Amino acid sequence: MPGEAAAVELVAASKKYREGAALQPTNLVVQRGQVHALVGLNGTGKTTLLRLVLGITAPTAGRVLVRGVDVARMKPAGWAGVGHLIDTPLVYPELTVQANLQIAGRLSGLGLGSGRAAARRLAEELLLTKWWTRRARTLSLGNRQRLGIAAALVADPDVMVLDEPTNALDPAGTVLVRRMLLERVRETGASVLVSSHHLDEVARIADQITVINSGRIIGTLAPDGIDLERRFFNLVNADVEANQRQANP
Ligand SMILES: Nc1ncnc2c1ncn2[C@@H]1O[C@H](COP(=O)(O)OP(=O)(O)O)[C@@H](O)[C@H]1O
Ligand SMILES: [Mg+2]
Repeated sequence: MPGEAAAVELVAASKKYREGAALQPTNLVVQRGQVHALVGLNGTGKTTLLRLVLGITAPTAGRVLVRGVDVARMKPAGWAGVGHLIDTPLVYPELTVQANLQIAGRLSGLGLGSGRAAARRLAEELLLTKWWTRRARTLSLGNRQRLGIAAALVADPDVMVLDEPTNALDPAGTVLVRRMLLERVRETGASVLVSSHHLDEVARIADQITVINSGRIIGTLAPDGIDLERRFFNLVNADVEANQRQANP
């Protein structure tokens, strides 16, 4: 039943491009009310996995479900509750901060009045009101990132899919976004699937940490912060060595 299904589930979902496999058949469950972090080095398949979850790209095989619904058949109302930030923030460069946030709200199903109010609230929360009437393309990289996060959260999504959301943020922005995500998870039971290569950062917010390497999930890390970096590299190095042995037996 969709009401009880996991926030996100991949069932043997894979992605192959002409150039090669970006994601091997992968199983992953993001429980409701949890922050689930995906960590891995550059080029290991994090963004590919998140793009599959958002239906931006279709799996070569397997299935991807959000709240129990196959994303291939998800209706617009279902997507309205999914906040997302992938790669570079999806904002309209020629539009102002205000217009971007209002449009993001409308696209997520908010009415005109509530969309305006939510846009203002998120701009205040992310300290963007100073740039309210500035075109997005004239913002600094960090403020564009803040705008992308504000747009992702403007309609109070119950599922958030965020690709390296604290990239380009200053330490104050990083702390702010961490607090915003945890608040939403605690207060509304929302779920977060977030990718990162900042292990310390992830340890502070994640309930579950999944490690990905060479397009495969290779293990999990307990998010207690103890020796996280060493445990991460133990997993990754063991995987690299196993792959090398397989290639040169
Ligand atoms: N559209 C694409 N066409 C071909 N290869 C791709 C495409 N997108 C990603 N890849 C490849 O898939 C692998 C994983 O990429 P990606 O998911 O972006 O990694 P990450 O986000 O962990 O840095 C990389 O080898 C990348 O070159
Ligand atoms: Mg990426």
